[in-house]
Amino acid sequence: MRLLFTRALDPEWIEPLKDEHDIRMWTEENIPMPRELFLKELEEADGVFTNLTDRFDVEAFERAKRLKVVSTMAVGYDNIDIKEATKRGVSVGHTPGVLTEATADLTFALLMATGRRLRESIDYVRNDQWKSWGPFMLTGQAIYGTTLGIIGMGRIGQAVAKRAKGFNMTLLYHNRSRNEQAEKELGATYCSLDHLLARSDYVVLLAPSTDETWKMMGPAQFQKMKSTAHFINTSRGTNVDEHALYRALTEGWIAGAGLDVYEKEPISADHPLVQLPNVVALPHIGSAEVGTRREMVRLAIENLLLGIKGKSLTHIANPEVHEK
Ligand code: DGY
Repeated sequence: MRLLFTRALDPEWIEPLKDEHDIRMWTEENIPMPRELFLKELEEADGVFTNLTDRFDVEAFERAKRLKVVSTMAVGYDNIDIKEATKRGVSVGHTPGVLTEATADLTFALLMATGRRLRESIDYVRNDQWKSWGPFMLTGQAIYGTTLGIIGMGRIGQAVAKRAKGFNMTLLYHNRSRNEQAEKELGATYCSLDHLLARSDYVVLLAPSTDETWKMMGPAQFQKMKSTAHFINTSRGTNVDEHALYRALTEGWIAGAGLDVYEKEPISADHPLVQLPNVVALPHIGSAEVGTRREMVRLAIENLLLGIKGKSLTHIANPEVHEK
């Protein structure tokens, strides 16, 4: 079978596959495969190992006549047209679970960095501005004992909530449906989005990217937040109206933002949000912890190999493909 890897992986992953499969692999680890080459390679591929930067739209599926499985090393699969995949009988594998703790760690790190103004403080030292100690120099907001609002109480939301318990935070959450386990085990209180926004000192967005969540944080939502509150997004940039966030941060509707994801990625240094002192901006590194990324690769290869044989994947985004 022909397997296409759209990013370069170490030989330790690829060599064991070579006896049985015909492997095609893009040469770069940190640069996406050019679209034209990707489309061309799809024509002969039985399975593809992909990531969030490759767009699997109608055009891509149209070219991929032999394709049985798309396996992404990500929990999110908003870059893949799931309906189209299902229509064509293509299984879509993804990697939930293995990145939960790493992403929760990063989310909490962003929350703390934002609340305690770490970015400004680091710059302060680096730019040689630190000439003395001052009673209110670089003062931020408390974390311990404050209220955390989690939008999207899935696996990662619950892992963030567990960390917040250690900080004695009051937990509010909003989700498509109630999560009784989170209520019982973590003491989280379910509430409307408006209530969460009005009450929280930190609002953490962890919802998947869907038609319903598109720009769910817009001007009306940011205006409901406390002026001392911070907004953290480690989900998908498309869930946020960035223009509204910019206004919120520059017009004093909220105190700061910690961002790992953006509407269009990658962003450049001159992106308006990056220039703001009250923004901590990271380059989509939620799951970027060595062991986690290894597990994501391992699981994505497992899904790929199951998929080319027409077997059920360990984690599938479109189980309905088997009902066809
Ligand atoms: C995901 O898995 O969806 C992340 O955004 C990338 O690790």
